[in-house]
Amino acid sequence: MIKLAILASGTGSNAENIIRYFDRHPKIQVACVVSNLKEAKVLEKAENLHIEHRAFSKQAFLEENTVVKYLQSRADFIILAGFLLKIPGNMLAAYPNKIINIHPALLPKFGGKGMYGMSVHKAVKDTGETETGITIHFINENYDEGAILFQAKTAVSKKDSPEDIAANIHKLEQTHFPEVIEKILT
Ligand code: GAR
Repeated sequence: MIKLAILASGTGSNAENIIRYFDRHPKIQVACVVSNLKEAKVLEKAENLHIEHRAFSKQAFLEENTVVKYLQSRADFIILAGFLLKIPGNMLAAYPNKIINIHPALLPKFGGKGMYGMSVHKAVKDTGETETGITIHFINENYDEGAILFQAKTAVSKKDSPEDIAANIHKLEQTHFPEVIEKILT
């Protein structure tokens, strides 16, 4: 079995979709969900879906080996599904080309520090883009700059609000993220 750890900071709709997709999968299994926020909704979702879950402080993520040890004893790959913190060097070293992120825009556009969730969709709206999309990519030491594995696009019309854009992006994420993970890992 290939075991996955999902790291997430928010609502966890992607995490839930991935957990459901790999439920009873013959080769891939979600081993745990980890967050940097105790109150993140994703932890409730993991609880309801009977997946081991845990929150660690920002300090534990950035300065200690605790989180990496926890992950290494449980997971072969790390999936970032709306995770807010920058991935620290010790985690990158422990999981070379084994950390996969989803970004809600067409990288290299709208990537980098501060580009998370709604702030991405607002920036897409403000620049008058006619299309946006999702990017699934490996993580390296720079924000949003690792090798791109997959992109899918959706049109943006003048009357779309950032919320409309977010809804379209979520549909793309729900359709593609688990399948892309499956293709890359098998
Ligand atoms: C997703 O749209 C994901 O692409 C984005 O956060 C959202 C989390 O939603 N990730 C980033 O912005 C990473 N820079 P969810 O908690 O409902 O899955």
